[in-house]
Amino acid sequence: MSALTFQALRRLSDGRFHSGEEVARELGRSRATLSEALRIAPDLGVELFSVRGKGYKLATPIEFIDVPRVRGAMGACARRIALEVVDEIDSTSTRLMERATAGAPSGTCLAAEWQSAGRGRRGRTWIASLGGSLTFSLLWRFERGAGHLGGLSLAVGVAVARALAACGVERVQVKWPNDVVCDFRKIAGILVETAGEMQGPSVAIIGAGINYRLGERVLDRIDQPVTDVAQCSERLAARNEVLGKVLAEMVTTLATFDRHGFAALRDAWRELHAYQGRRVRVMPGREAAFDADVVDVGADGVLVVRRVDGQLVSLASAEISLRAT
Ligand code: BTN
Repeated sequence: MSALTFQALRRLSDGRFHSGEEVARELGRSRATLSEALRIAPDLGVELFSVRGKGYKLATPIEFIDVPRVRGAMGACARRIALEVVDEIDSTSTRLMERATAGAPSGTCLAAEWQSAGRGRRGRTWIASLGGSLTFSLLWRFERGAGHLGGLSLAVGVAVARALAACGVERVQVKWPNDVVCDFRKIAGILVETAGEMQGPSVAIIGAGINYRLGERVLDRIDQPVTDVAQCSERLAARNEVLGKVLAEMVTTLATFDRHGFAALRDAWRELHAYQGRRVRVMPGREAAFDADVVDVGADGVLVVRRVDGQLVSLASAEISLRAT
């Protein structure tokens, strides 16, 4: 995508009509070049009207990420995070892992307005819309080994759920292993990737995608039940505030996880688990699905379920997912 597309969308971000001639002049381009740069808007999930005699207008204003505003929402936790925002990237997680390998410090955070190849769990594509999602990754270093980070993605789920609740999102819960849901519809996804020695130290790239205000067209493209912050809040919190609050909650939660592991967050996670004590369909990746009742979560983040034949099974892989029966 061209830099001009972003420059033009920033000019139009207030959601009012702007004359094409004026925007083109301000950006030092021809009207035809501007029109070409904005042609891509629908592919980004952005609804843009072009009305003869009035100009361009976004269907919904876009609140671009503003680092001082995000830091303001983070409070004292802001000093633990070095936030960088880019307009476009393939995947914040892919790039941040490269930086981790090159020695980037704990607390480095990379957020993108647009990911051209955002990755979800199980090899899926992460679908987002420009201005309608939050997509970022946080680098965190641990003294313990990568093999002892079990439960980290569940801990991060607690952090995201708490932060969204603090932003006014109603009925927010977690779903094993690392989804955040509202009324059983996914509102955020977490992808934790780790590297390092078995005995430590290790590093985690914590990628999070939050559906902020996806819009009907993008919601329709996603092949699972999804929702967004706008649909689940009475009063929509500012996008920068949501990012700041989520990052602050992640800092607090990661400090707890660092000291005590997932065990210290296990009760909170149980209380937030949408499927606690419920019958679910377990989808174990390549093997056949089966029905089971959720029994408990272990101190290492493993989910214990009881199959209908009474057999207890421990679910550990991030490749497994649960569905309502
Ligand atoms: C899931 O499948 O639920 C996990 C989705 C994680 C998406 C985020 S968006 C920011 C970061 N960069 C990526 O490529 N993926 C994660």
